[in-house]
Amino acid sequence: MSAPLLTLNNGVELPAVGLGVFQSSAQETADAVETALCIGYRHIDTAAAYGNEREVGQGIRRSGVPREDVFLETKIWASDYGHDETLHAFDKAIAKLDTDTIDLLILHQPMPAYFSRTVAAYQALAELYEAGRVRAIGVSNFTEELLDRLAEWTDTVPAVNQVELHPYFSQPELQAYHRAHGILTQAWSPIGGITFYPGWGESRHSVMDDQTLQRIAAGTGKSAAQVMLRWHLQQGRSAIPKSTNPERIAQNFDIFDFELSADQLAAIDALDRGVRNGPDPTADNARYMELTIPEA
Ligand code: A2P
Repeated sequence: MSAPLLTLNNGVELPAVGLGVFQSSAQETADAVETALCIGYRHIDTAAAYGNEREVGQGIRRSGVPREDVFLETKIWASDYGHDETLHAFDKAIAKLDTDTIDLLILHQPMPAYFSRTVAAYQALAELYEAGRVRAIGVSNFTEELLDRLAEWTDTVPAVNQVELHPYFSQPELQAYHRAHGILTQAWSPIGGITFYPGWGESRHSVMDDQTLQRIAAGTGKSAAQVMLRWHLQQGRSAIPKSTNPERIAQNFDIFDFELSADQLAAIDALDRGVRNGPDPTADNARYMELTIPEA
C-alpha cells in the first residue's frame, strides 16, 4: 500500500502521510523509521531540534529503501536563523542525515521577535532551492499575519506550512489562507497526540477519546486515530502522525481502504474548539534561541 501523493506549488510530489519523529528518542527513532519504510511509508518528517536526524538517516539505510524513494523533510531550528547560519545549518543536517539533498526544508518557527533573522533564514532556503540542494522549501507554525509579513520579503511562496492541526484545533481561516496562496497545509499532531505531552496546553482534552470520533470509528471499524488521518487525507492535507510503536505505525498507514461521508467530515469539522494545545507561535520566542544544534 502507498500513500496518495500531493503536488506542491512547484510541481514536486509529496506522499500525504508521513512518519513524525517528534519526541522519538534517538534509540527508538531508527527502529521506527525502518519499520515505517518497510510497511510502505515513503515520507519521514524530522527536525534539527528533535536531536534524531542521525537516527533517521540510519533507519532509512537499514530499511533498504533507496534514498531517492523517500521524501525526507527536516527543519532549521531558530538559533540557526540568519543567512550564513542557515546555510551552515543545512550542512549540519545533511551530514547527520547522511544525504546530499533534502526533499523539503522548512523553518521550524516564525520567531516574530527576530523577524529579520527569520527572513534571512528563509532567503537562505530559497538559495538552497535555486541551487538544487533542496527540492522544496516551506515554513512551520506561521500564522496568516506572519505569512503576509514573510511575503513582503520574498517571491518564493512556501510550499508548505506545517502547523498544529487536529479536530480540536483545525484552523479553518489559516487553511483558507493556504488554499488562496497555493501553500499546502501539513498537520503536526494530526491525531491530537500533543494533548499527551506534559506541560503543554491548559485546556487539554484527549482528542482520541472524543465521543463523535469514537462513534464514527465504531461505524467504520477503524480507530479514532485512523478516522482523524482519513479526515486529513480527504480534505487534502498532509499529516505526519508520530509513533514509535510498530502496531500503531502500521495502524496509522492502514487508512486507504475506507471513506468518510460528507456528513462525517462535517461532524469532525464541527469539533473545532479554536484553542491550541501547543505553543503560541506569536509569543516572544526568545527562549528558543537557547537551544543550540550541535555540529555533529
Ligand atoms: P506512541 O509513539 O507510543 O504510539 P501526534 O502525532 O498527533 O502528536 O500523536 C502522537 C502521540 O499519539 C504519541 O504519544 C503516540 O504514542 C500516540 N499514537 C500514535 N499513533 C496512535 C494510534 N494509532 N492510536 C493511539 N495513539 C497513537
